[in-house]
Amino acid sequence: MKYREHQGERFSEIGMGCYGLSGAYGTVDIQEYKKTLDYAIENGVTYFDTAQGYGSAEEILGEVLGKRRTSLFLSTKVSPDASGKADLRTESLYRACEASLKRLKTDYIDLYNIHFDDPETPVEETVTALEKLVREGKIRHYGVGHLPPHRVKRYMESGKLFSVMGEYSVVARQGERELFPLCRQYKTGIVAFSVTGRGVLARKRGEESCFDKGDIRAIDPLFQRERLSSALRIADYLKEIAGDHEMTPIQTAIAWVLRRPGVICALTGPSRRDHLRENIRASSQELPQSIWEEIESFLEQEESRLKEEGHQAVLTLLSKPLDPDGEKAFKDLLYAAETAVALGFLEESVLMPLFYDLFQTRATRDAEECSRALERVRLEVKGLLFPEE
Ligand SMILES: NC(=O)c1ccc[n+]([C@@H]2O[C@H](COP(=O)([O-])OP(=O)(O)OC[C@H]3O[C@@H](n4cnc5c(N)ncnc54)[C@H](OP(=O)(O)O)[C@@H]3O)[C@@H](O)[C@H]2O)c1
Repeated sequence: MKYREHQGERFSEIGMGCYGLSGAYGTVDIQEYKKTLDYAIENGVTYFDTAQGYGSAEEILGEVLGKRRTSLFLSTKVSPDASGKADLRTESLYRACEASLKRLKTDYIDLYNIHFDDPETPVEETVTALEKLVREGKIRHYGVGHLPPHRVKRYMESGKLFSVMGEYSVVARQGERELFPLCRQYKTGIVAFSVTGRGVLARKRGEESCFDKGDIRAIDPLFQRERLSSALRIADYLKEIAGDHEMTPIQTAIAWVLRRPGVICALTGPSRRDHLRENIRASSQELPQSIWEEIESFLEQEESRLKEEGHQAVLTLLSKPLDPDGEKAFKDLLYAAETAVALGFLEESVLMPLFYDLFQTRATRDAEECSRALERVRLEVKGLLFPEE
């Protein structure tokens, strides 16, 4: 394992995440996950990431780390409540931090992240509270997660951000447009997550989009339609080009992330030890420069192709009323909206409030009300994207 340094801290360049412990990737075998966390420590991983909002993940991680905690870099997040609302007011932040410390069985957190935005609380108030937590030794650094670039900039201007977490992989490069240049400008580290594309690069044809109902990948746009076809073409290409160098598509994809300027850590979150072993090996593997150049040019072509196909697909989906089946309607609308952002047709900050609306509607309303709200969002997104149609 190789290690990187940032703002005086040193940690493994591949980090282990605990999102899977929340059940987000289907039914989780907690005993196996604990063994995977152990395996991570035994094999040189020192960066561990979790969140208040990942079910029992903080407790489980705290228990597994035990006395080994002090030699590790521990990152967690202040998450929204069950209704999806983030509360970053001073007192709420202190309470959330105390509760995380207790669950993690530690007296300090190395990196405390804002998981989601709270537009109602001024950034300055949250930063002042975070700085106080630093002075009190409860946290050593703070960072941000799923925030639109203009809000991230406010944090960068108001305090000393350690890092920004962003999805980043050969199949998800939207951060390159605005967020990552901002990180380089402010010397804020980029912590890349879902670097294996949530496993898409290892999917076997025929099983590529079969998931349990509780698995978020069942509605994840990355696992649908043109996006999935593109990801599988990338996986096939990486297998062909890096296979001779004994690197799997997943390992090549992780090594690709680690080469990107500004990335301080590549986070992966497998529940299985064999998967983690494969991923960790990417830290010690290399490819000749000429191969990286070929990969780059393939990825550029693939991106242009996906942009063309994606544009047409989004237009088709938004141009007619949604499917009468509520689940299918939700999935199609999510695909259209998220793909529009991922491919750069629409600003994330414009779409974010509509996204929240979409998820809250689904969680709280009855079927009829829900389909009316979905139809309203469809027309709104269509108006934003294709005003002339
Ligand atoms: N995803 C998010 O929205 C998000 C946001 C902020 C922070 N994070 C943090 O970043 C961490 C990493 O993100 P992630 O968990 O999405 O990363 P990831 O490793 O790209 O995705 C995990 C999924 O990919 C599968 N996978 C991983 N390596 C594999 C391999 N070698 N072969 C086959 N399948 C493989 C895992 O399968 P198995 O379980 O079967 O091993 C699991 O289902 C999270 O755990 C979390 O701590 C995530």
